[in-house]
Amino acid sequence: MCGIVGHVGAKDSDRSLQVVLDGLSRLEYRGYDSAGVAVGATGGLNVVKSVGKLANLKAELEKLGELPGRCAIGHTRWATHGIPSVENAHPHTSLDGALALVHNGIIENATALRQELTRDGFEFVSDTDTEVVVHLLARTLVEELRRPMPEDEGVTGVAGDPSLGGGAEDAAGVAQDLDRNLDHDQAATSDAKNNSLLTPGIPADSLPTAAALTRAMRRIMSELHGTFTLLAVHEDAPGVVVAARRSSPLVIGLGEGENFLGSDALAFAQYTRRAIEVGQDELAVVTPTHVTVLDIHGNRTEPKTLEVDFSADRATKDGWPTFMEKEINEQPRAIADTLANRLDAEGFLTLDELRIPAEVLRTVDKMVIIACGTAAYAGQVARYAIEHWCRIPVEVELAHEFRYRDPVVTEKTLVVAISQSGETMDTIMAIRHAREQGAKVVAVVNTPGSTISRESDAVLLTHAGPEIAVASTKAFTAQITATYILGLYLAQVRGNKFIDEIQDYLDKLAEIPAKVEDVISRGEGVRQAARMLADTASVIFLGRHVGFPVAMEGALKLKELAYIHAEGFAAGELKHGPIALIEDGQPVIIVVPTPRRPELHRKVVSNIQEVRARGARTLVIAEDGDEAVNECADVVFRVPPAPTLYAPLLAVVPLQIFACELATAKGLDVDQPRNLAKSVTVE
Ligand code: AGP
Repeated sequence: MCGIVGHVGAKDSDRSLQVVLDGLSRLEYRGYDSAGVAVGATGGLNVVKSVGKLANLKAELEKLGELPGRCAIGHTRWATHGIPSVENAHPHTSLDGALALVHNGIIENATALRQELTRDGFEFVSDTDTEVVVHLLARTLVEELRRPMPEDEGVTGVAGDPSLGGGAEDAAGVAQDLDRNLDHDQAATSDAKNNSLLTPGIPADSLPTAAALTRAMRRIMSELHGTFTLLAVHEDAPGVVVAARRSSPLVIGLGEGENFLGSDALAFAQYTRRAIEVGQDELAVVTPTHVTVLDIHGNRTEPKTLEVDFSADRATKDGWPTFMEKEINEQPRAIADTLANRLDAEGFLTLDELRIPAEVLRTVDKMVIIACGTAAYAGQVARYAIEHWCRIPVEVELAHEFRYRDPVVTEKTLVVAISQSGETMDTIMAIRHAREQGAKVVAVVNTPGSTISRESDAVLLTHAGPEIAVASTKAFTAQITATYILGLYLAQVRGNKFIDEIQDYLDKLAEIPAKVEDVISRGEGVRQAARMLADTASVIFLGRHVGFPVAMEGALKLKELAYIHAEGFAAGELKHGPIALIEDGQPVIIVVPTPRRPELHRKVVSNIQEVRARGARTLVIAEDGDEAVNECADVVFRVPPAPTLYAPLLAVVPLQIFACELATAKGLDVDQPRNLAKSVTVE
């Protein structure tokens, strides 16, 4: 999805462009197809855009030489309205070039607004909804700049209504109003002086424009339908960024004498760990020394301060050729870190931020897991364990389908939202629907402070570290681990399992990281098989029980990374139709259950024989010592023995390595596959 970065530096600062480029580089893993920056310096804005990777943008900037600036905004675009082109790239500018804007989200009434603006004489150079926003903002800004100064006691600000027909105010008024609050606040909070949230600190020469731009931004928020994160800079207010958000993510990093903005805290994690969240339908006025957050009515809000959790070093390849390979190999640590420190002094399981009382959890009569993509497959794996441990029905629903099926959700439903990014719009909207129906929501996320974690009743963090490659690997195994912890926690609270049983399950889970390490060490055989299949047109994946979602995840990896048609089936479903796909040489990868579950094992072995008899090339994932597969497998990837419910944590690893190697053999970019975004922040 789109990446957004902003910076406001001190008057003598000239590093805003570099800060924004660094931030965009940290966000480029999210996937994009064009990029651009706007740099605000005294005397004007410089806007540079390019198609393709950031390297192309940097090459364009090189041609222009030094672009010193004390504020800058930047954007990596994942095309929604309009093809990837320079014209459609952000920032978009007003007709006079004095105002620049970047946007993440989708404006649903853009067509009607474009027609209105066209009638007003605005000319459009792009196909984007964002250009509609910048012209709407510019038109409104002109109106605000023309407004007579308020006749009341000068600039005392009062909270105006969105139409601004209400109390007259401008940034000085806001400043005075806020200073009054500051006096009040300082009386209330001794550390207020250290908190740069209290007064806008807008330079005098920028005040009229900054005030008018703030009012204009607030007005257009009421006119826009859909989702947005907006950052705007104006050449007459070079020390100010005005931002607004609805549903799309926006965090502000608090520096010393400088402040940062981003669609993801990772954008500025290397500069500051202190950040604030801009809430729904709020706007922020950001200067080098102050951040003022207002609601859509112009009332000041008190944003919460977050600690940015990402250690910047874990967002680098650390010597690996690709993030994908690094993250496959980080899985033992991701599982171990997610498991760590879960027991209290008495040996009971605890969750990170549990805000759901145990007595409420004891009334839960159903669980619904909502997620997308790989996260949904993790949920499908967890379903087997949680139903077995907690004896409640567990549904797994794709988030984007959930609210449209009019689901049966009550205050006794526990909804579990699984998300690596914590910003997937489909999952966010599903959470909101579930909460409207009275359900409690637990978020299983890998990104602290993300929207999904903030909008849930409880949070269980996966500690996989930043997952940069677009195709998810370590997050998947960490998500399974975390949902198992949640399942065991529920079993503990509800009395389904005794504490010693839970500790036995946890002890067996604690053995998994070493087993995953073992599977990774056997990867060369998988890579050889992948290279031999580099030209294949399609691959079928089969699995049964917990192996079924693993088969689907394996197919997704191959689709995402190698652009090969791949499909995962329940092995038992084969003879009900898909077996018609089997022809001579058709590669079929089968996830085989442990022989210690003979009722499952026997059936899957016969499934292998069925496809082999029709000419399939069979690649089998089977436990060490399982000789039954030998006569029907062309290739066997061995994994160490593990309890059935934990087997997915091992079986998925060869599938990840297979997809990564096959894509590499095809010369493809395994970290940023075509058309994909790491965090899908639009519905
Ligand atoms: C997985 O490889 C994909 N990148 C995608 O399916 C992803 O899992 C899905 O978009 C959900 O993302 P989330 O976990 O950040 O919510």
